[in-house]
Amino acid sequence: MIIEPRMRGFICLTAHPTGCEQNIKNQIAYVKSKGHIEGAKRVLVIGASTGFGLASRITSAFGCDASTIGVFFEKPASEGKTASPGWYNSAAFENEAKKAGLYAKSINGDAFSNEVKQQTIDLIKKDLGQIDLIIYSLASPVRLHPVTGVLHRSVLKPIGGTFTNKTVDFHSGKVSDISIAPCEGDDIENTVTVMGGEDWSMWIDALKKENLLANNATTIAYSYIGPEVTEAVYRKGTIGKAKDHLEATAFSITDSLADLEGKAYVSVNKALVTQASSAIPVIPLYISLLYKIMKAEGIHEGCIEQMQRLYAQRLYTGNAIPTDDKGRIRIDDWEMRADVQEKVAKLWLEATTETLPEIGDLEGYRNDFHNLFGFGFEGVDYKADTNEMVNVSSIV
Ligand SMILES: NC(=O)c1ccc[n+]([C@@H]2O[C@H](COP(=O)([O-])OP(=O)(O)OC[C@H]3O[C@@H](n4cnc5c(N)ncnc54)[C@H](O)[C@@H]3O)[C@@H](O)[C@H]2O)c1
Repeated sequence: MIIEPRMRGFICLTAHPTGCEQNIKNQIAYVKSKGHIEGAKRVLVIGASTGFGLASRITSAFGCDASTIGVFFEKPASEGKTASPGWYNSAAFENEAKKAGLYAKSINGDAFSNEVKQQTIDLIKKDLGQIDLIIYSLASPVRLHPVTGVLHRSVLKPIGGTFTNKTVDFHSGKVSDISIAPCEGDDIENTVTVMGGEDWSMWIDALKKENLLANNATTIAYSYIGPEVTEAVYRKGTIGKAKDHLEATAFSITDSLADLEGKAYVSVNKALVTQASSAIPVIPLYISLLYKIMKAEGIHEGCIEQMQRLYAQRLYTGNAIPTDDKGRIRIDDWEMRADVQEKVAKLWLEATTETLPEIGDLEGYRNDFHNLFGFGFEGVDYKADTNEMVNVSSIV
């Protein structure tokens, strides 16, 4: 079939397998161009099919020559209906890994469930024995709790009062004011249950109980801080409470791994266009201004540049892992540089529908958004008849 983008708000209903494959090849080429990293050899990535998790898997495999198991929740294709992009990404990743002689297997299902944890445990026992590095990179709006059976929904809302600020519809370029009503009822608890650290802990407990964690095993989850303009809806909002919980969980996991001399960290990453972040109001406008400044300064990074730098310059330098005063790894250091933030704050005040094409990088935002679904890649013939029925080889 001829596959074209079909945009609906902040999602795209179609994905292009050849474009997703190109995306994977580009990321692999970047990691390889940076040279070998002496790091983990057996890696489990939970949330491995898109965004930061995918980039972590690629860096593990093609930077460290690691065997990888990837867990994700993606939709396979059916005749005439494309798969979700993470499905095509994972298919392409496995093909490239196989060509390079690297072990790569994937599990598609709900990572919050006991069943998927058990499937992963069985696979590790059978194939890898133990794991050295566990990346926890889930971004989900819902979690079916495996003990209570309750379906929790996370919300992206301010706490305590209505938040009004600018936002942009990145398709049309229209800048407008948006007001977001404060959370109510159980919104905070639900958001913490979905995006906080409980499930991360459950994974580590389950793996440890089965003796599947190697000595010195490390686990990393991802967080975000960001600027003042997004604070009310992000870091001081409901999702921020979940990130506080995730960050606190790193300490309790580290305690639980003491006998293995294992460690849990949270890495604070840069704001980037992913399926998760494009759903958060205000963030797309901030990102388009941030991109403009960071590109002008020559310090712009995508997920793969961020993860390659995390591995090469934070995790595996041969020295102790550097952290901030709250024990977090900071790879958002360039985003949060005072000069960068001052410039973004100034542009924020100037941003209107008329000025944004000039002062912001809306084009870069849109391009990245299209790329998430495999569209807009050079060297891909989007007019070609394309087979949508692609398999992820290790999933039967
Ligand atoms: N995008 C940003 O700007 C940004 C910045 C800093 C930190 N982070 C954090 O990075 C982490 C990953 O986010 P992302 O932006 O890469 O998101 P993403 O949407 O690109 O990736 C989410 C991954 O989780 C998987 N997933 C979702 N629900 C699942 C489930 N129930 N079972 C199994 N897999 C499931 C998806 O398949 C996918 O692999 C999140 O913790 C996020 O808060 C994101």
